Amino acid sequence: MNTQATRLIELLQLEKKGSKKLNAKVISVASGKGGTGKTFFASNFAFALSKLEKKILLIDFDFNLSNLNIVLNQSTKNSLSEFFEQKKSIEELIQPYTKNLHLIYGDSGKEFYPKIHKEIIDYFFVSLNKVADNYDYIIIDSSAGANELTIRQLINSDFIIIVTTPEPTAIMDAYVLTKMLKAENSSSLKLVVVNKCSQKEEGENSFNNLLIASKHFLQEEPKYIGSVSFDILAHKSILNQELLLENYFDSNISKEIIAITKRFTEIVQVANNNQSNFSQ
Ligand SMILES: Nc1ncnc2c1ncn2[C@@H]1O[C@H](COP(=O)(O)OP(=O)(O)OP(=O)(O)O)[C@@H](O)[C@H]1O
Ligand SMILES: [Mg+2]
Repeated sequence: MNTQATRLIELLQLEKKGSKKLNAKVISVASGKGGTGKTFFASNFAFALSKLEKKILLIDFDFNLSNLNIVLNQSTKNSLSEFFEQKKSIEELIQPYTKNLHLIYGDSGKEFYPKIHKEIIDYFFVSLNKVADNYDYIIIDSSAGANELTIRQLINSDFIIIVTTPEPTAIMDAYVLTKMLKAENSSSLKLVVVNKCSQKEEGENSFNNLLIASKHFLQEEPKYIGSVSFDILAHKSILNQELLLENYFDSNISKEIIAITKRFTEIVQVANNNQSNFSQ
C-alpha cells in the first residue's frame, strides 16, 4: 500500500472515533449492467428533489470515467482525485449548480489516478460528515457493476436506487448486484427504477421478475419506484448537454421522473416515521 493510502487509513481511524451518523441521507444510484441510464437518472432526480426545496449534493463517483460535468456542461474546477491525493478537502470540491443543487465532479482519463482501497471509501464517507449538515440528500452516481469499491460505497448508503432496463441481461445484473449486497449484509433500502421502457407494463413486468428471484433466492424484497420511458428527449438532452427536467419540464418522461421523485420522498417519510416510532 502506498504512503498516501496508509495516511488516509490512519486518518480514517482518527475521524471514525469522533464521527456521528450523517445528517443528510445518502442515496447511491447504481446498476449491474453499464449504460442503463444511471447518470441521466441521477442528475434529473437530483434536480427534481432540489425543486422540492431539498438541499442536494450530487457526487460523480465514477472515479476516472466520470461524465457528469459533460452532461451538465460545467467546467470542473476541483475533482475527487484531489481529495484522494489529500490536496483538497471535501468542502473545496463542491461547486454550486443552482441554489439547492451542488456538485462534486470526478475525473476523466487522468494519468496516475490514485489507488483507491475500500478503507479510503470509508474515509470519504466519514469526511462527508463535514458537509452533511448543509444537505438533505447526498446523491452518488456510481460506476456500473459490483466491484469491491462500488459495493463498499453502496453499503455506506442509506438508499440504493438500482437503475435497470427491461432487458433480461440488465435484470440479471441487477439481481447479481442485489445478491452481492446481501452477501455483505447491506442494510440499505433497495429501490428499483426500470429505465428505457417501451410501455409502463414493461417496467412492472421486469421488476416483478427481479422481485420473484430476489424473494425466492435471497429473501430480499426491493421496492419498485417506477419506470421511465425510452424517449428521444433523454438522448437529445444529453446530446445538448442540458438537463431534461430543466428544458423539457412538461414532457411525459419528465413527469415520470417527477412521479418517481415524489414516490421516493413518500418512502423516506414512512422510513422516518417507522424509525421514530421504533425509538420511542
Ligand atoms: N429514458 C431514456 N430514453 C432514451 N435514451 C436514454 C434514456 N436514459 C438513458 N438514455 C441513453 O442511454 C445512454 C446511457 O445513459 P447514461 O450515461 O445515463 O448511463 P449510465 O448507466 O450512467 O452509463 P455508465 O454505466 O457508462 O455510467 C445515453 O446515451 C442516454 O442518452
Ligand atoms: Mg454513468
